[in-house]
Amino acid sequence: MGSPPVGSMDMKIQLVVQQIRDEASGIKSFVLTSADGNYLPSVAPGAHMTFTVELPDGSTDERQYSLVSDSSQNDHYTIAVRREDNGRGGSAWFHDHVSTGDILIASGPVNDFPLAHEDVPHSVLIAGGIGITPILSMVRHLVARERSVDVHYASRTEDTMAFQVDLAELVPGHVHLYHTDGNGGKRPDIESIVKHAPDHSHVYVCGPSGMIRDTVQTSRRLGWNESRVHYESFGGHNSEEDQPLTVELARSEMTIMVPAQQTILDAMLDAGVWASYDCKRGECSMCLVPVLDGTPDHRDVCLSDEDQTRYMCPCVSRSKSDRLVIDL
Ligand code: FES
Repeated sequence: MGSPPVGSMDMKIQLVVQQIRDEASGIKSFVLTSADGNYLPSVAPGAHMTFTVELPDGSTDERQYSLVSDSSQNDHYTIAVRREDNGRGGSAWFHDHVSTGDILIASGPVNDFPLAHEDVPHSVLIAGGIGITPILSMVRHLVARERSVDVHYASRTEDTMAFQVDLAELVPGHVHLYHTDGNGGKRPDIESIVKHAPDHSHVYVCGPSGMIRDTVQTSRRLGWNESRVHYESFGGHNSEEDQPLTVELARSEMTIMVPAQQTILDAMLDAGVWASYDCKRGECSMCLVPVLDGTPDHRDVCLSDEDQTRYMCPCVSRSKSDRLVIDL
């Protein structure tokens, strides 16, 4: 073996599935090694890889999964995949068709969610659902460097909560678990968490858009410098309940039919509409449009509550009403 190569989105690598484990209800982990026996590209905590997956209609597509393994190890990666029963089929393909010994094609790793500098005195890590994957990798890294950490981790139910044992072993006494389903359901109190974080802490959050928005806006309101707040959203992932919708562009006098599995922004671009955008993840507000009629289903993490009364980000947000009218 030589020294670890550097990952790239342009470079495809082949990975052999060495082990598959049930981590929680609907969540499996996959331990992967290099197919050519070499070291894998170096990773930093928070990195993800993009995998080629097969869809039920025989086509292929790409899915991104964060690496949960120890970032100091270059002999294997571990990813965790939550099965989305009503998704487009990428996660179901992992669950139903991938076996040990199979070869997967991937590119990366790429890191859009890096840790801040090493001498941060305390880190508060907040995860919702499968958002635990990059957070676990960060916890491993910080604990190995004897950094102070608190983890807040929410899932719908206990049986859908992966990696509880790993977290309890890594940071005993510093893991706070929340189960949100049912009458007794409990959510992390973001205001209290941010307010009581030690001075100069950094906060990292990965989970549903509401959790990220809450954390970003709360820390802003409490006077935190934005450089101390880090997040990774699930981007434009469609939800199980998504329905087709109609978007009317008032100024362009156009009506666009948006399929259940396409974003409003992509449907507009496909129709030849000029629309500005950048991240396509609901994080930058570059695609923001005024809403004239209808009820948006906001999934961005960048607009304030007040902004959301007038605007929406069509790269990720959809509609609670069958029809939306936007000022474009
Ligand atoms: S393109 Fe960044 S929020 Fe829509």
